[in-house]
Amino acid sequence: MLIISHVVALSNNNVIGVDNNLPWNLKKDLQHFKDYTSNKIIIMGRKTYESIGRPLPNRVNYVVSNTINEIKGAYIFKSTSDAIEAAKQKCFEDDAYKEIVIIGGGYLFRETLSLANKLVLTQVDCNIDGDVFYPEVEINSWNEVETKCYKKDSENDFDFTVKVLEKN
Ligand SMILES: NC(=O)c1ccc[n+]([C@@H]2O[C@H](COP(=O)([O-])OP(=O)(O)OC[C@H]3O[C@@H](n4cnc5c(N)ncnc54)[C@H](OP(=O)(O)O)[C@@H]3O)[C@@H](O)[C@H]2O)c1
Repeated sequence: MLIISHVVALSNNNVIGVDNNLPWNLKKDLQHFKDYTSNKIIIMGRKTYESIGRPLPNRVNYVVSNTINEIKGAYIFKSTSDAIEAAKQKCFEDDAYKEIVIIGGGYLFRETLSLANKLVLTQVDCNIDGDVFYPEVEINSWNEVETKCYKKDSENDFDFTVKVLEKN
């Protein structure tokens, strides 16, 4: 089965971004993000692409935008559904790809929550101000299959828990 996942870090009050950036420094979560997304197709909105600043290496980068026409090292799509269709086609044609990972931001997560069959959530243990939010998840529709806890330290601003949810 083709997996369509969300990988996202969210606060207790569902904040995922502020001023086109992440609201925290969580080094271990960035490593988790890199490990999870490597060798997969990642789809992101234009603002998330700009906040990262470059195509991510060792991943197939798809960016949804109507204002950017070309990025060296990434593919641009005019709509989220065009990007998902192209990613499905790539998985169909190339056995190396079995998962499409939506990596944000708020627009992309909202547009694709109903399509996702896996959520990889980093729940950051804080309430924080922000301007971009993750949508409410209907928790009864999902099954928690994995949980891993991390403690705050000098390189990680808050305690956080990585939870993997699969659609019932
Ligand atoms: N905590 C996390 O895990 C996480 C992950 C990712 C991002 N973020 C944060 O989220 C924030 C960015 O998210 P955002 O919601 O502002 O923006 P976004 O979803 O990254 O990008 C929005 C842009 O994507 C394009 N787009 C989205 N849906 C489209 C559609 N249906 N058709 C055509 N184009 C579409 C548009 O680009 P054009 O304007 O170019 O047409 C739109 O302006 C940043 O603060 C970032 O740091 C957090």
